[in-house]
Amino acid sequence: MTDPLFDVSGRVAVVTGGMGQLGAVYAFGLADRGMKVAIFDVTGGDVPTGARAYEVDVTDRASIEAALQALEQDWGPPDLLVNNAGLDSPPDAPADEVGPFESYPEGSFDAVMDVNVKGTFLTCQVVGGAMARAGKGSIVNVSSIYGLLSPVQDLYAFRRERGETFVKPVAYSVSKSAILNLTRYLATYWAKSGVRVNTLTLAGVWNEQPAEFLAAYTARVPMGRMLDAEEALGAVVFLASDASSYVTGSNLVVDGGWSAW
Ligand SMILES: NC(=O)c1ccc[n+]([C@@H]2O[C@H](COP(=O)([O-])OP(=O)(O)OC[C@H]3O[C@@H](n4cnc5c(N)ncnc54)[C@H](O)[C@@H]3O)[C@@H](O)[C@H]2O)c1
Repeated sequence: MTDPLFDVSGRVAVVTGGMGQLGAVYAFGLADRGMKVAIFDVTGGDVPTGARAYEVDVTDRASIEAALQALEQDWGPPDLLVNNAGLDSPPDAPADEVGPFESYPEGSFDAVMDVNVKGTFLTCQVVGGAMARAGKGSIVNVSSIYGLLSPVQDLYAFRRERGETFVKPVAYSVSKSAILNLTRYLATYWAKSGVRVNTLTLAGVWNEQPAEFLAAYTARVPMGRMLDAEEALGAVVFLASDASSYVTGSNLVVDGGWSAW
């Protein structure tokens, strides 16, 4: 028996970055729960049964509009938008991107802000706007503990001890903290339109990180482990469902207690 509080079946979801590590978990998990899932991503990949993939660059308003129009024709207005597409600095980032703050490249700053902030802003304008017109919807904007608090540079000391230069870059943190207030702004702006807007703040997700990083990271987490990608899904289902009907403008922190001490 499905608990009606958490029943999302038949509803329409848009998941940006739905081909990535976490986005795929959301896309498959929401499709498993009977949602019609539209994946907006710049790359292709596995599409769950009942879902559709649209080639969308979230920094390009026209591509978001075209995908929304196509999906609305078949499914009607979306009930859920998960703004999950994001850029961090990859492990193989060029040296100057993971070098000292003082020389962090302006182009890298713009690229990260473009996807993480402007991309979320544009998708909220287009998809959130359609939700407001329909008088219903839930938006989940994804942030990070590095948007809530500073990165802990000590976690990367093992790389410096190996002789590498490594500073966790600034742009990701700046971009993810912007998400917190975009959420609050829109939660109040759309509060009487039936659209709820919340932030989902996640801690580091287990992804076969080097043992030295894992040891340093987990020592700082009260629960003593990284987040399993599947554990982020419960928060998305909660925010998509009627169980969260009075929740708006909030920040749901899924961090194993990282920010609690
Ligand atoms: N993995 C973590 O440890 C972690 C921790 C906290 C928060 N987060 C956040 O969760 C989200 C997903 O992270 P992930 O680890 O799954 O990342 P990922 O790199 O695996 O996936 C990101 C996805 O976004 C897509 N994307 C990038 N630019 C895009 C654009 N311009 N338009 C459309 N799609 C675009 C990529 O193609 C990719 O499929 C991000 O917002 C990230 O900041 C991740």
